Amino acid sequence: MSAIALADNVFWVGAKDPELRVFDLIVKTNYGTTYNSYLLRGEKVALIDAVKDGFEDQLFAAIQEILPLSQIDYLIVNHNEPDHSGAIVKLLQANPGIKLVCAKPAVPFLRNVINDEARAIEGVKGGDKLDLGGLTLEFLATPFMHWPDTMMGYNPEHKILFSCDGFAAHFCPTESIFHKPGDQLLLHEAWYYYDCIMRPFAPFSRKAAQAIAAMDIATVAPSHGLVNRAEPKLFIEKYLEWTEPKHRSDRKLIAILYASAYGNTAIMARAICDALDQTKCEPHLIDVTAANDAELRDWLESADGILFGTPTFAGDVVKPIWDTAHLLTSVAATGKKAAVFGSFAWGGQAIEILESYLEALKLKVMKPGVRARLVPGPGELEDCRRFGNDFSKFVAE
Ligand code: FEO
Repeated sequence: MSAIALADNVFWVGAKDPELRVFDLIVKTNYGTTYNSYLLRGEKVALIDAVKDGFEDQLFAAIQEILPLSQIDYLIVNHNEPDHSGAIVKLLQANPGIKLVCAKPAVPFLRNVINDEARAIEGVKGGDKLDLGGLTLEFLATPFMHWPDTMMGYNPEHKILFSCDGFAAHFCPTESIFHKPGDQLLLHEAWYYYDCIMRPFAPFSRKAAQAIAAMDIATVAPSHGLVNRAEPKLFIEKYLEWTEPKHRSDRKLIAILYASAYGNTAIMARAICDALDQTKCEPHLIDVTAANDAELRDWLESADGILFGTPTFAGDVVKPIWDTAHLLTSVAATGKKAAVFGSFAWGGQAIEILESYLEALKLKVMKPGVRARLVPGPGELEDCRRFGNDFSKFVAE
């Protein structure tokens, strides 16, 4: 028996992938993963999510322990990433009568998954309900948790939250699919999952977790990992903790992230910092070569304004600063204010190169950056102080 009852007429019918060691090319999955699907059997039958392509045999076998595929009325697509939508076409081939339901923003994504212009797709919004006859599914809009298409479902009869990728973990159990209290390994994997998948959209996860925390929930049934009915609010509360900014101030926080081979960019950084300290901002100087990625990500996430200080080396940004800037893709940084400064000998192109990259990531960049040739002289230091002042105004806008 591979289907597992969560409640009367509600079943886990997912697939297990214990050998997976890397997810989405970058996420380590030391304990494999599961692609969770759920079957709700009322007078009508709904399947929540399909599984990754290649795992449909497990899905179909589990469903058929409960009922024939031909009896499924609805496929609820909480999210279109291929680990949950890969088997949809094969499911529709097995039962062409299935009605597709997803969040309104998910409709074009789902259209591109099935590549069938003729098939109807019902787009729903938060608060809409699907009456299955004896079982209800209420939809929650949870955009950017972690795709714009993402929604969750709530079954009020059994107080089950089908949380999609939220509150999930990449973990493939060898025994029970149910969470056990005190499981430190799962807690770590849930944090790692949040850190890799949800953290770039932390404000959206926080808003969703705040709303969900107030709900009456007996079971959280995510799309990966274990079903939690022993401590259903555990990871919801953890999301509230993990989405808290790590650095706080009553003043505007400015992270001055710099690298300096011979001390010249460091001299500029200190002059800019001194100027910012005279304003309503709270500047922090961070030598990126002395900080680890976790510390740098906390600063990138918490800061209202980010200043990057890079020498130009071989016509480019130096690697420690490139590595730091690249961390922006792993935190919520869209719309943050930023600018670039640095020393140079005969080129100075690093400033424009990094400015372009920051703009491509949708940060708001104050230009032009400030530069100094070799050892900053009095005039160049004055430029740095003016740059700090200007940046304080830019952040305050
Ligand atoms: Fe588990 Fe975002 O897919």
